[in-house]
Amino acid sequence: MFHPWRNPRRDNDDDRRRLPTANAATRVTAPALLAWITAAIAAQIAIILLLRGLRPRVPVPVPPPPPPRETGAWPGWREFRVSARGYEDAGLTQCSFRLTPMDGQALPPFQPGQYLTFALPAGPGGGLLTRCYSISQPPDPDGYRVTVKRAGVVSGFWHDVVQPGDVLRLRAPAGRFVIDAEVAVPVVFIAGGIGITPLLSMLLWSLDAQPGRVLHLYYAARDEAALAFAPLLERLAALHRHFHLHILCDAAGRVDGPRLASLLPPAGRHIFYLCGPAGMMAALGAVLAEAGVAAADIRQEAFGPAAVGPQSGHGAFTIRFETAGRSIGWDGQDACLLDFAERHGVAVPSGCRAGSCGSCETAVLAGEVRHLAEPDHIPAPGHCLLCLAVPETDLVLAA
Ligand code: FES
Repeated sequence: MFHPWRNPRRDNDDDRRRLPTANAATRVTAPALLAWITAAIAAQIAIILLLRGLRPRVPVPVPPPPPPRETGAWPGWREFRVSARGYEDAGLTQCSFRLTPMDGQALPPFQPGQYLTFALPAGPGGGLLTRCYSISQPPDPDGYRVTVKRAGVVSGFWHDVVQPGDVLRLRAPAGRFVIDAEVAVPVVFIAGGIGITPLLSMLLWSLDAQPGRVLHLYYAARDEAALAFAPLLERLAALHRHFHLHILCDAAGRVDGPRLASLLPPAGRHIFYLCGPAGMMAALGAVLAEAGVAAADIRQEAFGPAAVGPQSGHGAFTIRFETAGRSIGWDGQDACLLDFAERHGVAVPSGCRAGSCGSCETAVLAGEVRHLAEPDHIPAPGHCLLCLAVPETDLVLAA
């Protein structure tokens, strides 16, 4: 017969001697035993909790936060297939490329306005060149779209060589030129030429995610044939009463200061997003400042080599390029050490030329440099970004 205190598999004389029997004076009923077990477990839990409470608190190491420019990023390069391409303007100078990840995994969200960095086999002999392009669509877990304007060798590679089915390597979306969350504050987007691309991403996202937010887009191009996404923009303006589209066509293809001053929306706080040639943005910055717009409400991203601005380092210094075996005098004529190196025939890698891609990162072996703007790509200790750096002293660079 089953005995409540006896394991039938260990039913031997020794066990019987250690366990109480049914005839013992301390006879225990099954409900009482259950109560003992419950009480014992409860006591153990209480002791464990007490000990945990008394244990000295050891600080738990907190991993460093990811760089602010990256959202949901993957490390290094990831392969994408070009799944489609198509022109966005009547002049056939601005072509969009749709990219889908080779691994089939959903893409992390990005912040509208961010860009992608590409390693493109567009150099001599198929050598890799690094270039950055704004994403021209709102976040989509299935893929990205970039839109490239034909303007030089690398953009020519996109237009003439890259076809659906090709595989390209990308770094994760990055960049600080992103739309804000202040829904109650109207937005003014100002785009010059291909500067429309990050603003289009912001606009499309805001129309969907910030319903009712008042949005103005001033979009300048040389002529109607150079307007990208024109049918889409006109359709959106017809659909959304709070979206106001202002197309500006002139020979320069940019919004000039006086014209903007005459077109600015009525008084009141607005947040301005500017993207276009650096010269255009410098002029607009002055107009907006004169109109009393707070500096914090003017967000901008230039493209092209002039993005950094003409703030060269002062003074005459000797710059030694160690790998090239050259020592050259810095005369302050160049906007940055990258321009300086290239002007003197010293080969250094480059990509975005605006502190974003990290291609021009170079070790500073001796001396001091100054970065003219806060880079998106943070260089390693003892390194600088040649595209943003000017000398403060004589230098020895690893390049
Ligand atoms: S060229 Fe991209 S960081 Fe300098």
